[in-house]
Amino acid sequence: MKKIHLLLAAIFTCSMAFAQQPVYKNPSYSSQERINDLLARMTIEEKVGQLNQVNGGVLTGPSVANDPGAQGKVQLLKEGMVGSFLNVVGTEQTLATQKIAVEQTRLGIPLLFAFDVIHGYKTVFPIPLAEAASWDLEAAERATAIAAKEASAAGLHWTFAPMMDVSREPRWGRVMEGSGEDPYLQAKFAEARVKGFQGNLDENHVLATVKHFAAYGAAEAGKEYNTVDLSRYALWNYYLPPYKAAVEAGVATVMNSFNIMDGVPSSGSDFLVNQVLRDKWGFNGLVVSDWASFGEMINHGYSKDAKEAAIQSIMAGSDMDMESGVMRTTLAESVKNGEVPMAVLDEAVKRVLSLKFQLGLFDDPYKYHDAAKERRTLLAAEHLAEARKSAAASMTLLKNDQGLLPLQNPKSILVLGHLAESQEDVLDFWKGQGDHANTVTILEGLKAKYPASDITFIQAVNRDGIFDQNAVKQINKAAKKAEVVIATIGLFGDLAGEARSLGDISPSDGQMTMLHAAKATGKPVVVLVQAGRPMVLTEVVRDFGTILYTWIGGTQHGHGVADVLSGDVNPSAKTAMSFPAAVGQIPVYYNHYNTGRPHQDGNEGPAHFWVSRYRDIPNEPLFPFGYGLSYSTYEYSDLKLSKKSINQNESVTVTVNIKNTSQVDGTEIVQLYIRDLVAQPIRPVKELKDFTRVDIPAGQSRTVSFELPATKLSFYDENGNTLLQKGAFKVFVGKNSDDVLEADLELK
Ligand code: GLC
Repeated sequence: MKKIHLLLAAIFTCSMAFAQQPVYKNPSYSSQERINDLLARMTIEEKVGQLNQVNGGVLTGPSVANDPGAQGKVQLLKEGMVGSFLNVVGTEQTLATQKIAVEQTRLGIPLLFAFDVIHGYKTVFPIPLAEAASWDLEAAERATAIAAKEASAAGLHWTFAPMMDVSREPRWGRVMEGSGEDPYLQAKFAEARVKGFQGNLDENHVLATVKHFAAYGAAEAGKEYNTVDLSRYALWNYYLPPYKAAVEAGVATVMNSFNIMDGVPSSGSDFLVNQVLRDKWGFNGLVVSDWASFGEMINHGYSKDAKEAAIQSIMAGSDMDMESGVMRTTLAESVKNGEVPMAVLDEAVKRVLSLKFQLGLFDDPYKYHDAAKERRTLLAAEHLAEARKSAAASMTLLKNDQGLLPLQNPKSILVLGHLAESQEDVLDFWKGQGDHANTVTILEGLKAKYPASDITFIQAVNRDGIFDQNAVKQINKAAKKAEVVIATIGLFGDLAGEARSLGDISPSDGQMTMLHAAKATGKPVVVLVQAGRPMVLTEVVRDFGTILYTWIGGTQHGHGVADVLSGDVNPSAKTAMSFPAAVGQIPVYYNHYNTGRPHQDGNEGPAHFWVSRYRDIPNEPLFPFGYGLSYSTYEYSDLKLSKKSINQNESVTVTVNIKNTSQVDGTEIVQLYIRDLVAQPIRPVKELKDFTRVDIPAGQSRTVSFELPATKLSFYDENGNTLLQKGAFKVFVGKNSDDVLEADLELK
């Protein structure tokens, strides 16, 4: 009895305490009521403060002219002029900063802590482009859920991911962050990653951001931050679908991109933000600028000064100013003099506040800052195990001509090239809080995999790709006792990511010298290529028969490589970007239009002169989109459609028989493409519309079936209206975008 009385008394005291609290601090009111109450108490300056996001850690962009400095930022924070910090990480730092916001500002509004958790926080997974090569959506969801778990345990509320910029530009360093050149595959990963990051938005998850809105991946010539100039038709059909998929999956926030669209910087684009994102797609969440992108509208020549840039951004529907400070320094005045209606400011502020309420920060502002939880969560054994699986699943086998792989217990191995011993280069620029010290190198992976093998390492080529001439002798000597040579080439890790555009994406001369020295020994050579983008490998492919593309595999890279080389994992990945045969081909991609004078490589002679081709290099990429080998081999047959024609409310069942003609159990990624043969406007020669991963034991066959609804035959016009045009289609199913069976389908 006594206990109950005490409990009642406690509840009573508690509700008394709430009763004395302002409505916005009282959880018995709805979020809406609490937000309105808070808004009514805020000064215009405090409202603008909520729209101000400030860098509090390492720079992930250029420092800005009006940067207030560390002391200045603390001062701003105390004045209620900061709504969110980026790059403040770890429970200790985030807690200390949150305490100032909650305990030392007039209204005690908690902060949002944001960070680029792109492919892992402490446990680093393969780069997203590598993960996309697995075509494994469940694995991507699991990986992002782990990243979210670690990030949230380290005090973070919000990640600036997933990046969903379709791109055909391997010169662009940021292709590593996305899922490649295809809008459908990218959209599927958008859903998976948003689900993984956000879950049910409890304290083990984080708010996600789809970025960079829009079409940042179309930067001319792959040059970072460059002009984007494309048709609305391409925008709707190629570039927008993945962002839309993320919005439909419930992504909490959207980030503007740096580029222009139709001559207007995305951050100030009423068309992109207000018309497409908000009105057409119904997105009512927060839109955050990219790093200083509001202020950069001045450089673009779109805004005459900071004041105009801030007005243009908020009026276009964007809300939060990351780092440029143009809102902080000018917006209050523009609201006071009526250039920005108070209602517009209030809407933007409400979007920020509602995220804070959604996360429960007004009720428990410190719930993400538990140091013990942080310690037990980061690098947990199950996270590392998942990262290892994911690394192996992303390794893409480009060639295995003589069946040299897998290497079963080689007695002795000669390993060559700096990348084999580098802890640093298995992580990239967007490595989160990944430490080099925690990574597994290729050499370590091999030693762990083959404890009985005699493994010799010669660096031969350094990090800058320079060959050491003395290495020739050493290689010759060491090769005498080696059963096999494993040679590593590629690009070092920090060349993947933002501001890392390259004009030359071939292996260095030094790396080629090393490969040829290895070949000259007469021993079988396995070439491992490590890079955050497709490289131009024409010479390597011409001269070497065994090539594994390892991408950048993260913390467990070395184990992933060894798992595949040994055959413990049978490779199944297929590239999500075409591999160019020469830089001069770029952009080269599978879903191109046909042109009036199409050409296919191999067709020579006078009849093939006035055609769309280069005179010195091939038209086709070295490896097409969707390409990758396995230790298993597969034969496709009997492509069948359940109907020859369908109307627009129907769907057709597409079946194909796939036989694993090898001695090894495998997983095959089966791809379905369509072609709309005659359409106005015209359609690409192929478009991915479905895929599946199917396990096929050695020697067995499986029938794979896809449901293809007529709606998947639709596309957008240049205004974003859906078109579904009657007529003849091809349906293709195959191993990659080039190697397919085909059947006819009519849409009635
Ligand atoms: C950048 C990037 C963006 C990132 C942001 C914060 O410059 O373009 O992707 O989220 O800064 O680091």
